[in-house]
Amino acid sequence: MHLPESVRNLVLVGFMGSGKSSVGREIARRWGFRFIDTDTAIRQKYAKSIPEIFASFGEPHFRDEENRALQDLQNTDRAVIATGGGIVLQPRNHPLLRSLGVVLWLTASEEVIWERVSRNQNRPLLRTQDPRTTIRTLMSTRYPLYGSLADITVETSGLTHQEVADRAVAAIRLWPAARHEDQH
Ligand code: S3P
Repeated sequence: MHLPESVRNLVLVGFMGSGKSSVGREIARRWGFRFIDTDTAIRQKYAKSIPEIFASFGEPHFRDEENRALQDLQNTDRAVIATGGGIVLQPRNHPLLRSLGVVLWLTASEEVIWERVSRNQNRPLLRTQDPRTTIRTLMSTRYPLYGSLADITVETSGLTHQEVADRAVAAIRLWPAARHEDQH
C-alpha cells in the first residue's frame, strides 16, 4: 500500500493499555517495517521484567533507560516504534520522539483503559491500593503531553487492533497534506 515517503518511522505514544504494541506490530507488518518496543529493549538489556527493573533499580533509573533507548534509536528508519506510557514525562524525550518520525497517539477512555490493564499485573505504577484512581490521576497529567506531541490521534475505545491500524494507516496517508494545511 502507499506509504508517504515523508514517514521515516512511526512512533506510538499513549497510556498503558492503549494498544501501542499490538497496533504497532500490525502496522509494521502491513508496511514491511521493523517493530521496536522501548520497553522490550530495556527488558532485554537487563534480562528482567519491567516490575523487576522498577523493584531493583527504581523508577528514575528506568526513566533514564527510556531516554537512552530513544537516543539509541536516533539513526533508525523504516521502523514502527512503540514506547512506554511514561516516555512523555521527560521533556528531554520530546525532541527525540519528534525527530524519529510521525508521532501517533492512541487514546482510550478511562473505563476502557481500566478494563484492559486490570487483566494483568505487569505494570508497577498500577500496583496501588486504588489503581482506578491512579489511572485517572496519571491520565490527567499525561494526556496534555501526548496531545502536544502527537501528529495524529486515533481513539481506540471499542475498536479491535485491526480497526485501529486501519484508521491509523488511513490518517498517516493524509498526514503530510494535513500538516501542510495546518501551516496555512
Ligand atoms: C509505564 C508504562 C509501561 C512501562 C512501565 C511504566 C508508564 O509501558 O513502560 O510500566 O509510566 O506508563 P506500557 O505503556 O507499554 O504499559
